[in-house]
Amino acid sequence: MTTQDEINRRRTFAIIAHPDAGKTTLTEKLLLFGGAIQSAGAVKSNKIKKSTTSDFMEIEKQRGISVSTSVMAFDYKNYKVNILDTPGHEDFAEDTYRTLSAVDSVIMVIDCVKGVEPQTRKLLEVCRMRNTPVIVFINKLDREGQNPFDLLDEIEKELKIKVCPLTWPIGIGKSFKGVYDLYNKSLNLFQGESKTKVEDTIEIKDLHSGEIEKHIGQDFSEQLRADVELLDGVYDKLDKEKYLKGQISPVFFGSAVNNFGIKELLDCFVEVAPSPKERETDKGIVKPEDPKFSGFIFKIHANLDPKHRDRIAFLRICSGKFERNKYYTLVRGKKELRFSNPTAFMAQQKSIIDEAFPGDVIGLYDAGNFKIGDTLTEGAEFNFKGIPSFSPELFRYVTNLDPMKTKQLQKGLEQLTDEGVAQLFTRKVDGRKIVGTVGALQFEVIQHRLKAEYNATASFDQINLYKALWISCPDKKKLEAFIQDRAAHIGIDKEERPVFLAESAWLLQMAQEKFPDIQFHVKSEF
Ligand code: G4P
Repeated sequence: MTTQDEINRRRTFAIIAHPDAGKTTLTEKLLLFGGAIQSAGAVKSNKIKKSTTSDFMEIEKQRGISVSTSVMAFDYKNYKVNILDTPGHEDFAEDTYRTLSAVDSVIMVIDCVKGVEPQTRKLLEVCRMRNTPVIVFINKLDREGQNPFDLLDEIEKELKIKVCPLTWPIGIGKSFKGVYDLYNKSLNLFQGESKTKVEDTIEIKDLHSGEIEKHIGQDFSEQLRADVELLDGVYDKLDKEKYLKGQISPVFFGSAVNNFGIKELLDCFVEVAPSPKERETDKGIVKPEDPKFSGFIFKIHANLDPKHRDRIAFLRICSGKFERNKYYTLVRGKKELRFSNPTAFMAQQKSIIDEAFPGDVIGLYDAGNFKIGDTLTEGAEFNFKGIPSFSPELFRYVTNLDPMKTKQLQKGLEQLTDEGVAQLFTRKVDGRKIVGTVGALQFEVIQHRLKAEYNATASFDQINLYKALWISCPDKKKLEAFIQDRAAHIGIDKEERPVFLAESAWLLQMAQEKFPDIQFHVKSEF
């Protein structure tokens, strides 16, 4: 198979959902259909349950799970499907954001009882920013959910996307019988009352032929014909180009836990979902078919075994072919690195691979060289864009509680922030370290991991800070003048970029008004 064939057959995507909508169940069922696992229950949920007695245990458990489920790859028909897992807790939103930078499309799961939920909204915003193609799977049709037309309306209004249903439910909840496949014009029905078995697909070319009555009776047939007529009038047909541009989302209905509607979803997904796309770098566009290898690190997992300082960096391959034992350049610092044990994740098995292609995600054992967002190339000096840091939501001062362990604390903070657990700022006037996170849970994670992995003890103390914003100005002198004027409110991030530490929205506004030439950025990439 040529590299081009390998690229064409890859489908790299993430399943995103509000917690409990059925992401884990759907992942598992896709793996079952793909033949990657043999029984249900093999995929563990990575949800962190806040209510449990020990959050630490949950966090550790979650870290363990998320290594094994970070990437789940399987072959289906002639395609290689790579599913990337996203964290199940909203405090890890930045992790999710970074994972979404490494996929080419997403499947979004919506619970038919609950409809659009807060996380659904946030995740879709991220997809829209990048024009990521989205397929919607409306789950739990075996429950008394909302009317499917209302659901589609809600999705279009709340998420501001256009939808295009490709299957349509027959009945819902207790009366749920199955789905009509609008795309292939066929009927897929449950068998018997248990709703666990699926009958063979029945082709129904003409809904008016009377054939359908034999299978679902008169009432459901009439309802289906009326529904389909309405659908034809209201929704556009699937336009693949629009879907690939993120302008229209195909919708499937089903019940993940009952294996229902999954095959239709997967069959359509592999057919329409994009193969690896070109990507933007600071020196132009990189295409997957470019002969030279390149990729970027979007996730780092460290120290699951406290005795070893091993980390696994997850690399998304963007162009060329990755080969084991070949020297590649870590662009930041121009370091030459060679990997003797690159790992692929087929189904749930880790295995060492000799080569990998664009769209693949591989794990690289790392002794501390990598940072999130790093680019690895075959010598070329460019950096992939699209993995910025965001201004955190919560801030705390770090206070070292054990002066004998200053070095350990320093190292721990450096490494944990390299992994993207949090961001680290240093205030210029007094050199105080400030940690910024998206959610409160991260402070617990850091404190716990500092102790467990670095033997350092720190407290996180209140600081009055509203936002940390990256600052820039085309005129270097003006930027310097601003930094002088607001010296008490300037910090630097880990890359030594200047950051304005705004104590309140009002103080930020004052600074913006007094220094109109200074640009304030919520992202580190501008
Ligand atoms: P998540 O990863 O999106 O958070 O959701 P997950 O798959 O863990 O599913 C959340 C709950 O919804 C689970 O129940 C799961 O069994 C259930 N579920 C998933 N798909 C369907 C479906 O099609 N119909 C119905 N009725 N339920 C579904 P749980 O009680 O939280 O866990 P479990 O004990 O069943 O595993």
